[in-house]
Amino acid sequence: MPSRLPEYAIRNREVWTKSNAAYTAASARESWALEEIRWGVWKTPESEINVLPDLRGLEVIELGCGTAYFGAWLKKHGAKRVLGVDITPAQLDTAREMNEEFGLGLEFLKANAEAVPLPDASFDLAFSEYGASLWCDPYRWIPEAARLLRPRGELVFMRSTDLEMVCSADTEHIGTQLTRPLKGMHRLDWSDDEVGPSTEFHVSHSELFQILTRSGFEVLDFRELYAPEDAVDHPYYQYVTAEWARQWPSEEVWRARKRKPAASGRRPGRKASGTAPARSRSKPAAQS
Ligand SMILES: C[S@@+](CC[C@H](N)C(=O)[O-])C[C@H]1O[C@@H](n2cnc3c(N)ncnc32)[C@H](O)[C@@H]1O
Repeated sequence: MPSRLPEYAIRNREVWTKSNAAYTAASARESWALEEIRWGVWKTPESEINVLPDLRGLEVIELGCGTAYFGAWLKKHGAKRVLGVDITPAQLDTAREMNEEFGLGLEFLKANAEAVPLPDASFDLAFSEYGASLWCDPYRWIPEAARLLRPRGELVFMRSTDLEMVCSADTEHIGTQLTRPLKGMHRLDWSDDEVGPSTEFHVSHSELFQILTRSGFEVLDFRELYAPEDAVDHPYYQYVTAEWARQWPSEEVWRARKRKPAASGRRPGRKASGTAPARSRSKPAAQS
């Protein structure tokens, strides 16, 4: 990996190498084998929330693909091509192993999701479930996703909620009190004991909305997800409890579409001088 990686990406790569050994490699097969698409820690079924676009025929890039179980589901549900990007070799090794075993034909690229070495306008859908959406700087990865998408391409991602972040203490464990300001929130350095220090990024809803808009997206959908009544704590991701997430939303999904570039040149019917177009004398066509 080139040393041009930001220092936080190097820290996060170490964390994900350890997490792969501790949990994600061993759990990948069960996730890849599922037919149903399920979101996040609480495994919310896509069939309940219907937030994804029609996947049939789409070329998809997953930014921070991990072991790529979500990419596998996107392919099973009709995507024509799924390319997973990740910085952690151990995660990509597991993804490749699963891809061979399940024969789904995904492709993988070891790269930083904030600067992907691929041409502009190559994909119809950019996607992240707790990948770039959590571990990359939104001021870098969202414009990068916009660059990689074709006009009218979509960006769909899951991340933690504002509420979860302001209720999380420095050790990442959640409480029922506000422990940090939302104002100015951007980079969060965690000092988790088990897998080592990591860095996440989180900006508020309104700041994220602005980043999306300035990057050329229009927001199509936004969902806040709670844990279901029968949820139990996740065996590995213990930064949030089921009890907490039954009362407050801990996960959210954003869906945005890249705007078409503004048409250049003269508008039909307008004179080059910029004077008002001549009024048509004909009546509007009858509505059928
Ligand atoms: C929670 S996992 C993603 C899980 C994924 N939804 C799946 O289906 O396996 C987060 C991943 O983000 C990756 N990641 C962290 N920083 C990254 C960066 N700057 N560029 C690309 N991937 C990154 C980590 O290596 C890790 O594999």
